[in-house]
Amino acid sequence: MTDFFELTKIRQSCRDYSDQPVEREKLVKCLEAARLTPSGCNSQPWSVVAVDDPKIAAEVAKTTAQLGVNEYIAKAKAFFIILEERAKLMPAVARILDSQYWAKGDLGAFTYALTLQAQELGLGTCILGVFDRPKLREILKIDNEKPIFMVVAVGYPADPKIRNKQRKNFDELVRFV
Ligand SMILES: Cc1cc2nc3c(=O)[nH]c(=O)nc-3n(C[C@H](O)[C@H](O)[C@H](O)COP(=O)(O)O)c2cc1C
Repeated sequence: MTDFFELTKIRQSCRDYSDQPVEREKLVKCLEAARLTPSGCNSQPWSVVAVDDPKIAAEVAKTTAQLGVNEYIAKAKAFFIILEERAKLMPAVARILDSQYWAKGDLGAFTYALTLQAQELGLGTCILGVFDRPKLREILKIDNEKPIFMVVAVGYPADPKIRNKQRKNFDELVRFV
């Protein structure tokens, strides 16, 4: 079992995948882990379209490449398409805040949980914010009203090398008082 801090260090955006297919059980475990993500008022403002059919995965990959940014994702074997659902907040909270006020943060935590569980299973992932939204909606028959939050590409990494992370220094990040 990988130590949590170690897991956060080895999780990285994977942009080159091997030809090995991803087992459905592993995808399910990632989703089960993400299902436990905390959210404001436990509103769970998410749902997922999980793609592991090779033909559909290839079509989804094309929607991420069309804008000239994510061509390298073509070899990913599976995708999680994370959708933003309406959040039902507790009445006392709903009087103060818009229903979706916390949703993006909740969805970010959900997305990260997916990637960490995938990493623990030996899978590579890449969170993709750039993709052709209308085309993706068309392929996966996603309601026009439902925001597509993020796409997560999944597959076995072609190269197991772990890169150094570029991050803010600790002192820039935090101020203890
Ligand atoms: C909201 C969001 C959107 C992202 N969109 C893309 C993307 O479209 N293409 C891509 O290659 N990486 C994308 N990334 C990955 C980031 O570039 C990456 O997480 C960051 O550079 C840190 O590198 P690491 O994930 O390897 O630690 C995205 C990450 C996030 C959180």
